[in-house]
Amino acid sequence: MEKIPIILDGDPGHDDAIAWVFAKADPRFDIKAVVSVAGNQTNEKTTRNTRAICALLGIDAPVARGAVRPITADPVTAGNWHGDSGLDGPKMPEPDQELSPLAAVDLMAKVIEESDKPVTIIATGPLTNVAELMIVHPEVKNNIGCISIMGGGLTHGNWCPAAEFNIFEDPEAAHLVFHAGIPMMMCGLDVTEKAIVLPSDIDRIRSVGNQVAEVVAGWVEFFIRYPMEIGYAGAPVHDPCAVLMLTHPEIFETKDLYVDIELEGEYTRGATVADFNGRPENKPNVKCALAIDRDKYIDLLVEALHAYDGREVKIR
Ligand code: RIB
Ligand code: CA
Repeated sequence: MEKIPIILDGDPGHDDAIAWVFAKADPRFDIKAVVSVAGNQTNEKTTRNTRAICALLGIDAPVARGAVRPITADPVTAGNWHGDSGLDGPKMPEPDQELSPLAAVDLMAKVIEESDKPVTIIATGPLTNVAELMIVHPEVKNNIGCISIMGGGLTHGNWCPAAEFNIFEDPEAAHLVFHAGIPMMMCGLDVTEKAIVLPSDIDRIRSVGNQVAEVVAGWVEFFIRYPMEIGYAGAPVHDPCAVLMLTHPEIFETKDLYVDIELEGEYTRGATVADFNGRPENKPNVKCALAIDRDKYIDLLVEALHAYDGREVKIR
């Protein structure tokens, strides 16, 4: 089977972690690198979580530390959603490999340059690393096949009324990436807030009966608390949509749109602004997911978890 080389770039983060559960479980992917970015928590914490998740899932690709802050914006963290560690809840294994000596942008560039096939970047946090890759290593653009992100919202935000967290955190980075001329897929809140894991789904997840399923059930049990306090029906598990858009596009409704990033507005900085009227000067630059088959999403999560049957690592 022709494998697709991918780079995982995130700020784990419970939903980043579940996105990586999907990615590792799919035999069509060849994970070439995993890089951390500051976002849900500080980069120190997201890097520690990245290494622990890789140990849990058996991702043996190199892991590199990425950006510790946005390009110009003041960093914010989302401890209300993800806890002080950024991945509160179940105990995790110790890292099982050394951190790469390379910075994330240099590991990403190395992987892309060495790949004999275009590499797909799956970015589920702020786009700081991807933007810095374009700045420091512009020569690799031609061997990036696609950038699939969780980020943005075409009709509303979540960190503020107009902006979604990942884009709000680093709008300058997002602006650079959305204008890089690389094929993009965007799973914004329009679709990811429909990718809800309900309390009634947790038993089904846990009943898969392996160690990873137990940990994922624990992650959802932690992650579901805050959104349900503020009115969600369950946990909007955003980030796996960026993986599933590549592996199961059939469960989504999508539209190719021109999307730009607001950098200036007092109330709108970080907004993803889409042209739904298809003006000639606004050639579509992003395939946007607008809806998802939620039941199928949960079925696919259960299916992915069975890929870890028989896997058990030491968790102190
Ligand atoms: O707005 C949701 C996004 O912000 C998700 O990627 C979540 O992990 C946080 O990074
Ligand atoms: Ca994330």
